Amino acid sequence: MSIEIPAGLTELLQGYTVEVLRQRPPDLLDFAVHYFTRLQDSRQQDGARACSFRPHTRGVNFDGETGHSESNGEQHDGEHDEDDEDDDSDFEPPVINRYNRRVSVCAEAFNPDEEDEDTEPRVVHPKTDEQRCRLQEACKDILLFKTLDQEQLSQVLDAMFELRVKPQEHVIDQGDDGDNFYVVERGLYDIFVERDGQSRCVGRYDNHGSFGELALMYNTPRAATIVATTDGALWGLDRVTFRRIILKNNARKRKMFENFVESVPILKSLELSERMKIVDVLGEKIYKDGDRIIVQGDLADCFFIVESGEVKIMMKSKQTKTAQESNQEVEITRCTRGQYFGELALVTNKPRAASAYAVGDVKCLVMDVQAFERLLGPCMDIMKRNITHYEEQLTALFGSSMDLRDPGK
Ligand code: CMP
Ligand code: CMP
Repeated sequence: MSIEIPAGLTELLQGYTVEVLRQRPPDLLDFAVHYFTRLQDSRQQDGARACSFRPHTRGVNFDGETGHSESNGEQHDGEHDEDDEDDDSDFEPPVINRYNRRVSVCAEAFNPDEEDEDTEPRVVHPKTDEQRCRLQEACKDILLFKTLDQEQLSQVLDAMFELRVKPQEHVIDQGDDGDNFYVVERGLYDIFVERDGQSRCVGRYDNHGSFGELALMYNTPRAATIVATTDGALWGLDRVTFRRIILKNNARKRKMFENFVESVPILKSLELSERMKIVDVLGEKIYKDGDRIIVQGDLADCFFIVESGEVKIMMKSKQTKTAQESNQEVEITRCTRGQYFGELALVTNKPRAASAYAVGDVKCLVMDVQAFERLLGPCMDIMKRNITHYEEQLTALFGSSMDLRDPGK
C-alpha cells in the first residue's frame, strides 16, 4: 500500500525545520505558530505570489511580504527599526537576525568543500527597483564580492537587507559574536580597537566600504567596534548566507591564488596563515589596455598587486612652469606580475603620488585600506624604505629632489 504525501508537505516541514535549526528558538510550539502564521500572512498579502515557500529552495521565502519588503532590514533587526513605516509594525517576522544576534557560534561547523549550496535554504529580502539600484551601487566596489560568480552575487544581493543608523549608534561592538556583514551605502563610521584596556580610533569608513567579515569568516568575536558618526545607511548580509557563499568562495580563492601569493616578494616576510588571511579579503579587478587604475591626486582607499599584465606608473611633474607643461605625464616605472603599487598614499596618508595605467590586459589583486593596515604591518618597514628609492627615481627624472613623505610639498 502506498501512502500519498500531499504536494508541498515535505517542503513546508523542511522549511520550518530549517528555520528552527538556524534560529534555535526557545519554544518550538510558539515558534511554529509564529512561523506558519507569518507564512500564511505573506500568502494572503500577495495573491500573485501566494506560495511563499519554494520547493527548490526548501525554505521560507518572504517574497509575499509586500508590507515588510521595502524596509526589511530595519524590520528584522530590533535595533534598527526606528524609521520603519510599515503598518504591520507590531509583528516580528521570524527571520534570522533577531534570534541569532550575539548567540554563541563556537560550535558551528562549516566545511566549504562539503557544503552543498543547492540544498541550503535561501534568504530573500524583497526589494523595490529603487532599493536594488542603491544596493548595486553600494556593492559595486566591494572586494569580497569581486570574485563571486553571477549566481552567487545575485544570491548575496537577494539576501541583503537595508538598515538605517543614527549618530553614535554602535553597529558592531568588539567582543560580540558576529551576526551580519555590512556594506556602507552612506555615512561615516569610526573604527575603534580596544587593546590593553585602551580604545583607539584606528580608521574610518567614509561613505563606502564594508566591515564585519572577520567574525563571520573565522568564527571569532568581533575584532573592533564600529560607531556611526552621522546618519547612515547600511546593507546587511546575514551570517548564514555570508558563510555559505563567501566562505565557499574563499576556499576556491585560496586554491586559485595560494601559489601566486606565495611568490609575491613583499609578502615573503609573512607567515603562511597571514598570507591566507590576505587571500580571504582580496578582490580581483580586471583592466583593459589604457584604463586608469589610479589617478594622481585622488584620495586612496586600496592597495594593488599585479597578478598578470603590466602597469605603467605616470606622474605629472610639479616642477613644470606652465599649465600646459604641468599636464604632461612622465612615465616613472612599470610594475609586472608579483609587484605592488598604490601603497604609498596608504603609508603616508597622502593623496595618490602618481597615476597608474593598464598596458594591455591587466589583472590585479586588490586589498582595501583597512585590511592593508591590519594585515600588512610586518611589511611596512620594507614599504617605507622603498619610499627613498621612489624619491631617488624622481630626482633622477625631474632633476630636483622630491620629498614624498612631506605633505607640504
Ligand atoms: P569583525 O571583527 O567581524 O567586526 C569588526 C570589523 O571591523 C572587522 O570585522 C573588520 O571588518 C573591521 N575592521 C576595520 N579595521 C579593523 C582593525 N584594524 N582591526 C579589526 N577589525 C577591523
Ligand atoms: P600611491 O601614491 O598610492 O599611488 C601611485 C603609486 O605609484 C604609488 O603609490 C607607488 O606605489 C607607485 N610608484 C612607483 N614609483 C613611484 C615613484 N617613483 N614615486 C611615487 N610613486 C611611485
